[in-house]
Amino acid sequence: MNPLHRFTTAIEAASRLDRLSSKVRSIAAPLGRPSLVRDGLTGRWLGHSVHPMLVAVPIGCWAGAALLDVSGASAPAARRLIGAGTLAAIPTAATGVADWFDTSQAEQRVGLVHALLNDAAIALFTASWVARRTTRPTAAKALSGVGLAMVGAAGYLGGHLAYSRGVGVNTTAFQSGPSEWTRLIEESSLSTDEPVRATLDGLQFVAILRSDHVDVLEDRCTHRGAPLSDGTVVDNCVECPWHASRFDTADGGVEAGPASVPQPAYLARLVDGWIEVRRDESGGLRQHPTGSAHGSG
Ligand code: FES
Repeated sequence: MNPLHRFTTAIEAASRLDRLSSKVRSIAAPLGRPSLVRDGLTGRWLGHSVHPMLVAVPIGCWAGAALLDVSGASAPAARRLIGAGTLAAIPTAATGVADWFDTSQAEQRVGLVHALLNDAAIALFTASWVARRTTRPTAAKALSGVGLAMVGAAGYLGGHLAYSRGVGVNTTAFQSGPSEWTRLIEESSLSTDEPVRATLDGLQFVAILRSDHVDVLEDRCTHRGAPLSDGTVVDNCVECPWHASRFDTADGGVEAGPASVPQPAYLARLVDGWIEVRRDESGGLRQHPTGSAHGSG
Protein backbone atom coordinates (compact mmCIF):
# COMPACT_ATOMS: atom_id res chain seq x y z
CA MET A 1 0.00 0.00 0.00
CA ASN A 2 1.13 3.53 -0.80
CA PRO A 3 2.69 4.99 2.42
CA LEU A 4 0.58 8.13 2.09
CA HIS A 5 -2.52 6.00 1.83
CA ARG A 6 -1.39 4.12 4.95
CA PHE A 7 -0.95 7.48 6.68
CA THR A 8 -4.49 8.66 5.90
CA THR A 9 -5.95 5.28 6.77
CA ALA A 10 -4.21 5.45 10.17
CA ILE A 11 -5.67 8.90 10.83
CA GLU A 12 -9.14 7.71 9.83
CA ALA A 13 -8.86 4.91 12.39
CA ALA A 14 -7.37 7.05 15.19
CA SER A 15 -10.18 7.07 17.74
CA ARG A 16 -7.98 8.97 20.21
CA LEU A 17 -8.70 12.07 18.12
CA ASP A 18 -12.39 11.88 18.93
CA ARG A 19 -12.18 13.59 22.30
CA LEU A 20 -10.52 16.63 20.74
CA SER A 21 -13.04 16.48 17.88
CA SER A 22 -15.94 16.70 20.27
CA LYS A 23 -14.30 19.64 22.08
CA VAL A 24 -13.87 21.47 18.79
CA ARG A 25 -17.47 20.66 17.90
CA SER A 26 -18.75 22.19 21.10
CA ILE A 27 -16.53 25.30 20.81
CA ALA A 28 -17.49 25.84 17.16
CA ALA A 29 -21.12 24.80 17.66
CA PRO A 30 -22.56 28.07 16.23
CA LEU A 31 -20.99 27.22 12.86
CA GLY A 32 -22.72 23.84 12.87
CA ARG A 33 -26.23 25.04 13.68
CA PRO A 34 -28.70 25.85 10.91
CA SER A 35 -28.43 29.59 10.28
CA LEU A 36 -27.77 32.09 7.52
CA VAL A 37 -24.16 32.30 8.70
CA ARG A 38 -23.74 28.58 8.26
CA ASP A 39 -25.41 28.67 4.84
CA GLY A 40 -23.05 31.48 3.89
CA LEU A 41 -20.00 29.50 4.98
CA THR A 42 -21.05 26.25 3.32
CA GLY A 43 -21.86 27.97 0.02
CA ARG A 44 -25.61 27.95 -0.57
CA TRP A 45 -25.25 31.39 -2.19
CA LEU A 46 -22.39 30.13 -4.39
CA GLY A 47 -23.76 26.81 -5.62
CA HIS A 48 -20.87 24.81 -4.22
CA SER A 49 -18.51 24.75 -1.28
CA VAL A 50 -16.73 28.05 -0.48
CA HIS A 51 -13.71 26.53 1.24
CA PRO A 52 -11.74 25.39 -1.86
CA MET A 53 -12.08 28.85 -3.34
CA LEU A 54 -10.83 30.68 -0.24
CA VAL A 55 -7.82 28.43 0.41
CA ALA A 56 -6.19 29.88 -2.70
CA VAL A 57 -5.76 33.25 -0.96
CA PRO A 58 -3.56 32.34 2.04
CA ILE A 59 -1.67 29.70 0.07
CA GLY A 60 -1.02 32.15 -2.74
CA CYS A 61 0.14 34.86 -0.34
CA TRP A 62 2.39 32.56 1.65
CA ALA A 63 3.87 30.92 -1.45
CA GLY A 64 4.49 34.36 -2.97
CA ALA A 65 6.31 35.45 0.18
CA ALA A 66 8.45 32.32 0.04
CA LEU A 67 9.44 33.11 -3.53
CA LEU A 68 10.41 36.63 -2.50
CA ASP A 69 12.41 35.19 0.40
CA VAL A 70 14.27 32.76 -1.85
CA SER A 71 14.98 35.35 -4.51
CA GLY A 72 16.09 37.92 -1.96
CA ALA A 73 13.62 40.43 -3.44
CA SER A 74 11.55 42.95 -1.51
CA ALA A 75 11.43 42.11 2.21
CA PRO A 76 8.56 44.55 2.93
CA ALA A 77 6.48 42.92 0.17
CA ALA A 78 7.15 39.47 1.63
CA ARG A 79 6.07 40.70 5.06
CA ARG A 80 2.85 42.14 3.65
CA LEU A 81 2.08 38.91 1.85
CA ILE A 82 2.62 36.93 5.05
CA GLY A 83 0.29 39.29 6.92
CA ALA A 84 -2.40 39.17 4.21
CA GLY A 85 -2.25 35.37 4.00
CA THR A 86 -2.53 35.04 7.77
CA LEU A 87 -5.57 37.32 7.90
CA ALA A 88 -7.19 35.49 4.97
CA ALA A 89 -6.67 32.17 6.77
CA ILE A 90 -9.27 33.13 9.39
CA PRO A 91 -12.41 33.15 7.17
CA THR A 92 -10.94 30.24 5.23
CA ALA A 93 -10.77 28.20 8.43
CA ALA A 94 -14.36 29.15 9.29
CA THR A 95 -15.64 27.74 5.98
CA GLY A 96 -13.64 24.56 6.57
CA VAL A 97 -15.11 24.08 10.04
CA ALA A 98 -18.64 24.58 8.70
CA ASP A 99 -18.04 21.86 6.07
CA TRP A 100 -16.43 19.60 8.68
CA PHE A 101 -19.54 19.41 10.88
CA ASP A 102 -21.45 17.11 8.55
CA THR A 103 -18.74 14.57 7.86
CA SER A 104 -18.46 11.02 9.13
CA GLN A 105 -16.35 10.14 12.17
CA ALA A 106 -13.39 8.96 10.08
CA GLU A 107 -13.58 12.11 7.96
CA GLN A 108 -13.75 14.28 11.08
CA ARG A 109 -10.50 12.75 12.30
CA VAL A 110 -8.75 13.59 9.02
CA GLY A 111 -10.36 17.03 9.03
CA LEU A 112 -9.14 17.63 12.56
CA VAL A 113 -5.50 16.83 11.66
CA HIS A 114 -5.89 18.99 8.53
CA ALA A 115 -7.05 21.87 10.75
CA LEU A 116 -4.32 21.34 13.36
CA LEU A 117 -1.64 21.48 10.68
CA ASN A 118 -3.14 24.66 9.30
CA ASP A 119 -3.39 26.16 12.78
CA ALA A 120 0.27 25.39 13.34
CA ALA A 121 1.04 27.03 9.99
CA ILE A 122 -0.93 30.14 10.97
CA ALA A 123 1.04 30.35 14.24
CA LEU A 124 4.33 29.98 12.37
CA PHE A 125 3.44 32.62 9.80
CA THR A 126 2.32 34.96 12.57
CA ALA A 127 5.67 34.46 14.30
CA SER A 128 7.42 34.99 10.97
CA TRP A 129 5.56 38.25 10.43
CA VAL A 130 6.59 39.45 13.91
CA ALA A 131 10.20 38.38 13.30
CA ARG A 132 10.24 40.36 10.07
CA ARG A 133 9.22 43.49 11.97
CA THR A 134 12.00 42.96 14.49
CA THR A 135 14.65 42.55 11.79
CA ARG A 136 15.37 38.87 12.31
CA PRO A 137 15.20 37.83 8.66
CA THR A 138 16.81 34.41 8.93
CA ALA A 139 14.49 33.26 11.68
CA ALA A 140 11.53 34.80 9.83
CA LYS A 141 12.33 32.90 6.64
CA ALA A 142 12.83 29.65 8.53
CA LEU A 143 9.48 30.05 10.32
CA SER A 144 7.58 30.70 7.12
CA GLY A 145 9.38 27.82 5.38
CA VAL A 146 8.24 25.38 8.05
CA GLY A 147 4.78 26.95 7.90
CA LEU A 148 4.60 26.34 4.18
CA ALA A 149 5.55 22.69 4.69
CA MET A 150 2.69 22.39 7.22
CA VAL A 151 0.29 23.92 4.70
CA GLY A 152 1.43 21.36 2.13
CA ALA A 153 0.74 18.47 4.50
CA ALA A 154 -2.64 19.97 5.41
CA GLY A 155 -3.41 20.38 1.72
CA TYR A 156 -2.70 16.71 1.13
CA LEU A 157 -5.26 15.77 3.79
CA GLY A 158 -7.76 18.29 2.40
CA GLY A 159 -7.34 16.71 -1.01
CA HIS A 160 -7.91 13.30 0.52
CA LEU A 161 -11.18 14.50 2.05
CA ALA A 162 -12.43 16.02 -1.21
CA TYR A 163 -11.17 13.57 -3.82
CA SER A 164 -11.03 10.28 -1.94
CA ARG A 165 -13.88 10.72 0.53
CA GLY A 166 -16.13 13.02 -1.51
CA VAL A 167 -16.53 15.69 1.16
CA GLY A 168 -17.96 18.84 -0.38
CA VAL A 169 -18.74 17.30 -3.76
CA ASN A 170 -22.10 16.93 -5.46
CA THR A 171 -23.08 13.33 -4.80
CA THR A 172 -25.33 13.27 -7.89
CA ALA A 173 -22.66 14.51 -10.30
CA PHE A 174 -22.41 11.25 -12.22
CA GLN A 175 -26.12 10.41 -12.30
CA SER A 176 -28.42 11.06 -15.20
CA GLY A 177 -32.09 10.23 -15.64
CA PRO A 178 -34.01 9.59 -18.88
CA SER A 179 -34.05 12.14 -21.67
CA GLU A 180 -37.34 10.73 -23.04
CA TRP A 181 -40.61 10.45 -21.17
CA THR A 182 -40.38 7.24 -19.16
CA ARG A 183 -42.75 5.61 -16.69
CA LEU A 184 -41.54 6.01 -13.11
CA ILE A 185 -44.29 5.12 -10.64
CA GLU A 186 -48.06 4.63 -10.53
CA GLU A 187 -49.92 7.66 -9.27
CA SER A 188 -51.93 5.41 -6.93
CA SER A 189 -48.67 4.71 -4.96
CA LEU A 190 -48.44 8.35 -3.90
CA SER A 191 -50.04 10.21 -1.01
CA THR A 192 -50.19 13.98 -0.82
CA ASP A 193 -46.95 15.51 0.54
CA GLU A 194 -45.40 12.10 1.23
CA PRO A 195 -41.99 11.60 -0.41
CA VAL A 196 -41.96 8.21 -2.17
CA ARG A 197 -38.87 6.49 -3.55
CA ALA A 198 -39.00 5.10 -7.08
CA THR A 199 -36.26 3.38 -9.04
CA LEU A 200 -35.67 3.65 -12.78
CA ASP A 201 -32.71 2.02 -14.53
CA GLY A 202 -30.85 1.81 -11.24
CA LEU A 203 -31.32 5.52 -10.47
CA GLN A 204 -33.46 6.47 -7.49
CA PHE A 205 -35.96 9.29 -7.53
CA VAL A 206 -38.25 10.81 -4.97
CA ALA A 207 -41.78 11.57 -6.17
CA ILE A 208 -43.94 13.96 -4.17
CA LEU A 209 -47.63 14.37 -4.85
CA ARG A 210 -48.63 17.99 -4.26
CA SER A 211 -52.18 19.28 -4.25
CA ASP A 212 -52.49 19.46 -8.05
CA HIS A 213 -49.30 17.98 -9.53
CA VAL A 214 -46.33 15.75 -8.87
CA ASP A 215 -42.75 16.92 -8.30
CA VAL A 216 -39.85 14.57 -8.96
CA LEU A 217 -36.26 14.99 -7.78
CA GLU A 218 -33.31 12.64 -7.63
CA ASP A 219 -33.44 10.83 -4.31
CA ARG A 220 -29.77 11.03 -3.34
CA CYS A 221 -29.14 14.30 -1.49
CA THR A 222 -26.48 16.38 -3.24
CA HIS A 223 -24.87 17.14 0.12
CA ARG A 224 -23.83 13.78 1.54
CA GLY A 225 -26.09 11.31 -0.20
CA ALA A 226 -29.01 10.78 2.20
CA PRO A 227 -32.25 9.42 0.68
CA LEU A 228 -34.63 12.36 0.48
CA SER A 229 -37.50 9.88 0.32
CA ASP A 230 -36.82 9.31 4.05
CA GLY A 231 -37.26 13.03 4.65
CA THR A 232 -40.33 15.14 5.18
CA VAL A 233 -42.18 17.78 3.22
CA VAL A 234 -42.09 21.21 4.85
CA ASP A 235 -43.89 24.02 3.04
CA ASN A 236 -42.61 23.88 -0.56
CA CYS A 237 -39.57 21.85 0.31
CA VAL A 238 -38.41 18.34 1.07
CA GLU A 239 -36.18 18.29 4.15
CA CYS A 240 -33.21 15.93 4.14
CA PRO A 241 -33.29 13.39 7.00
CA TRP A 242 -29.56 13.67 7.77
CA HIS A 243 -28.62 17.35 8.04
CA ALA A 244 -31.94 19.09 7.41
CA SER A 245 -31.10 20.81 4.14
CA ARG A 246 -34.28 21.88 2.37
CA PHE A 247 -34.79 21.60 -1.38
CA ASP A 248 -37.64 23.21 -3.27
CA THR A 249 -39.66 20.27 -4.57
CA ALA A 250 -40.46 22.15 -7.79
CA ASP A 251 -36.97 22.92 -9.03
CA GLY A 252 -34.56 21.38 -6.50
CA GLY A 253 -33.26 24.78 -5.39
CA VAL A 254 -31.54 24.84 -2.00
CA GLU A 255 -33.74 26.75 0.44
CA ALA A 256 -31.69 25.85 3.53
CA GLY A 257 -28.19 24.40 3.90
CA PRO A 258 -25.78 22.89 4.64
CA ALA A 259 -26.29 21.64 1.06
CA SER A 260 -24.99 24.07 -1.54
CA VAL A 261 -25.73 22.25 -4.80
CA PRO A 262 -29.37 22.14 -6.01
CA GLN A 263 -31.08 18.78 -6.17
CA PRO A 264 -31.58 17.55 -9.77
CA ALA A 265 -35.23 18.01 -10.66
CA TYR A 266 -37.16 16.38 -13.50
CA LEU A 267 -40.15 17.20 -15.60
CA ALA A 268 -43.05 14.87 -14.86
CA ARG A 269 -46.51 14.20 -16.22
CA LEU A 270 -49.42 11.90 -15.53
CA VAL A 271 -50.32 9.46 -18.32
CA ASP A 272 -52.77 6.56 -17.88
CA GLY A 273 -52.32 6.52 -14.12
CA TRP A 274 -48.50 6.59 -14.32
CA ILE A 275 -46.07 9.34 -13.46
CA GLU A 276 -43.66 9.74 -16.34
CA VAL A 277 -40.41 11.71 -16.08
CA ARG A 278 -37.72 13.12 -18.28
CA ARG A 279 -34.85 15.51 -18.08
CA ASP A 280 -35.49 19.12 -18.93
CA GLU A 281 -33.91 19.30 -22.38
CA SER A 282 -34.34 23.04 -22.59
CA GLY A 283 -31.74 23.66 -19.97
CA GLY A 284 -30.16 20.26 -19.39
CA LEU A 285 -30.36 18.12 -16.30
CA ARG A 286 -28.28 20.45 -14.12
CA GLN A 287 -30.28 23.51 -15.12
CA HIS A 288 -33.24 22.53 -12.96
CA PRO A 289 -36.53 23.38 -14.60
CA THR A 290 -38.09 26.53 -13.29
CA GLY A 291 -41.57 25.05 -13.35
CA SER A 292 -42.43 21.98 -11.36
CA ALA A 293 -43.35 18.74 -13.00
CA HIS A 294 -46.96 19.36 -13.71
CA GLY A 295 -49.70 17.06 -14.77
CA SER A 296 -49.07 16.97 -18.48
CA GLY A 297 -46.04 17.35 -20.64
S1 FES B 1 -27.07 14.52 3.36
FE1 FES B 1 -26.61 16.37 4.38
S2 FES B 1 -28.30 17.63 4.03
FE2 FES B 1 -28.74 15.82 2.94
